[in-house]
Amino acid sequence: MKIAILPGDGIGPEIVAQAVRVLEALRSDGLGFELEQGLLGGCAVDALGEPFPEATRRLVAAADAALLGAVGGPRYDALPRQMRPERGLLEIRKFLNLFANLRPAILYPELAAVSTLKPDIVAGMDILIVRELTGDIYFGEPRGIEWRDSQRVGFNTMIYNEAEIRRIARVAFQAAAKRNRKLCSVDKMNVLECTQLWRDVVTETGQAFPEVELSHMLVDNAAMQLVRNPRQFDVMVTGNMFGDILSDEASMLTGSIGMLPSASLDENNKGLYEPIHGSAPDLAGKDIANPLATILSVAMMLRYTFDQEEAAARIENAVRKVLADGYRTADIYETGTRKIGTEAMGAAVLANL
Ligand code: IPM
Ligand code: MG
Repeated sequence: MKIAILPGDGIGPEIVAQAVRVLEALRSDGLGFELEQGLLGGCAVDALGEPFPEATRRLVAAADAALLGAVGGPRYDALPRQMRPERGLLEIRKFLNLFANLRPAILYPELAAVSTLKPDIVAGMDILIVRELTGDIYFGEPRGIEWRDSQRVGFNTMIYNEAEIRRIARVAFQAAAKRNRKLCSVDKMNVLECTQLWRDVVTETGQAFPEVELSHMLVDNAAMQLVRNPRQFDVMVTGNMFGDILSDEASMLTGSIGMLPSASLDENNKGLYEPIHGSAPDLAGKDIANPLATILSVAMMLRYTFDQEEAAARIENAVRKVLADGYRTADIYETGTRKIGTEAMGAAVLANL
């Protein structure tokens, strides 16, 4: 097994370093893999002039999985769009055909009080958001900003073909079949034709999964229902744009965006694993960022790409134990718990592995 390590920018290198410690501990316990570092994002722009350079393309094409920290930072915001770190992230997703983005939002009971919602609303929350990742308005053409009738006009294209909808729907139905067998598909069919097709194709795909109870929800209502009663959801499936927004919203219900891992998979479960949070430049280099989302991303990698359920569960149990023991990074700290830094959090997980 070969794993590409892409630390990225901002807090990326610090949190990835902790996740790599966890991987290395598992290796000394007998799991065999090779790690190789590469550049993606702003660090690649600095070193090589582009966010997803050829060397990184070759590295990730040859690897079975990749672990990414985060990309981006204010230093790069003035660059032309093609040179921005975020572009590198979109390109790697497209290059590896990572159409299925799994974003679990789980409330750890110890963190119920840190959530901005009342503990009795979020207690027991366990949602899997399945976000389509290589289509939609993110990639649709035509796109741009141009002059029309002496003023500037900005435009993007929301577009899905039925094959794209069907393959992500299948991933979501399969995931739901292994969980509580409830799937909620999110669209905006009252306004957008593209998402009318989404609803039709998801419904058709559902005929092959009679054991899963399918419902549909408009995205504005879904955003509201997530904060009103998040426990009504088991698996949610939606397009790239709505999934981006709803997954940030859901993450906050769990107490901190610093807790949420993600997997982005192709047809063969080759994947890119990353925390869903950003590069948090303001926290970088201070040893205060939460490495748990990245460490939990390693667990997802072991489960989905390498089929190592036992090792994945070991990591997740170690994280639970660390939380139960009262260790907290600043983002999940509350009075009565023990505040520790990035490195110490990594060490605490290792100690419980
Ligand atoms: C995410 C991020 C990215 C996205 C950005 C950084 C391009 O917000 O992974 O959710 O919009 O997909
Ligand atoms: Mg996002």
